Parts: sequence; C-alpha cells; structure tokens
Amino acid sequence: MLVSGEGTNLQALIDSDLPIAAVASNRNDAYALVRARNAGIPTATFSLTCHADREERDLVLATWLEEHGVELVVLAGYMHLLTQPFLEAFPEAVVNVHPSLLPSFPGAHAVEEQLAAGVQEAGATVHLVDAGIDSGPILAQERVPVLDGDTVETLHERIKAVEHELLPKVVGELCAR
Ligand code: GRF
Repeated sequence: MLVSGEGTNLQALIDSDLPIAAVASNRNDAYALVRARNAGIPTATFSLTCHADREERDLVLATWLEEHGVELVVLAGYMHLLTQPFLEAFPEAVVNVHPSLLPSFPGAHAVEEQLAAGVQEAGATVHLVDAGIDSGPILAQERVPVLDGDTVETLHERIKAVEHELLPKVVGELCAR
C-alpha cells in the first residue's frame, strides 16, 4: 500500500486480514506508517528530496515493492501522482480510493468541493489508476448523502466509513482473481 496520511483505510485493510506485503510513503511522518509497523508490516519512505526527479523516485519505489513480492498496489490517501515507469511496472494493478463519485470532483480537495457545490450526494470510489488525476476505470462506487449542517470533517468522516467497507471488499476480490 502507498500512504501519505492518517492511514484509516490501511487500518481497514489490516483489520480485514488482507495480505499486505509492504507499506510505503512519500512522507516519513505519515501516521499510517505507525499503523503498518504496529501490524508488523515492512515500511519505507521514498521522499522526493532524495531523488533527482519523480521518475527516479518511482522506479526505486517500484523496485522495493517488487522485492517485497507486491502484485497489487493500493493507494489509500497517497498524495503524489505516479509516473509512467511506475505504472508500467504494475500494469492494470494499481488501485486508488477517492472521496467522491468520480468522474465528479477529482483532485485533492474533493470533500470541500462537494460541499461548496451544494451536492446532495457525495460518495466514495475505488478505481484503477492511470497517469491522470483520479481518472482511471471505476471498479466500485457508493453514495453518501450530504446532511444539513455537514462540515468538511463530518462529511469526510462518513465518506471514510464507507471507504473502509468498499476498499477491503474490492481489494479482496482483486486478490482472489
Ligand atoms: C481518503 O478519504 C481517501 O479517499 C483519500 O484520502 C483519504 C485518506 O484517508 N484519497 P486515510 O489516510 O486512509 O485515513
């Protein structure tokens, strides 16, 4: 899994007993890394500052994942776009979870933008990753109603609760293929 933040989706996969071979981040302060270590999963950080460019960082990252036997890469709150060399190392085998009903509201501020747009239904999407921003083929989606008085925090909390069911379900199905 690739993570950058809190790691609640990582925790949901750990709690689902899915076979997580390794967890990598672009930030060494991501709390998700603590969750992984607590579960005995190998971790590493691949910071952009240690590499000449994104392509080089992504190739080193891909090699590390391959060395750990990774066959499916799951992005859960990973905040960097992946470059072509990485995607070529894992063809059709990189998935992402996103807090909106894609193709609506791609990008890093989906929850804020859904509230600002006044939509009645937000949602969660699991999709295959391509070189675009949250643009690959959709694998599964679930709606989340927006409630009166919702803030970014309360809406994101309810979307994440849905993600924590949807992502392990889809990953479990992909692992069983
Ligand atoms: C999730 O809402 C996910 O959809 C988005 O980033 C958030 C990650 O949360 N891409 P967490 O780090 O799994 O708690």
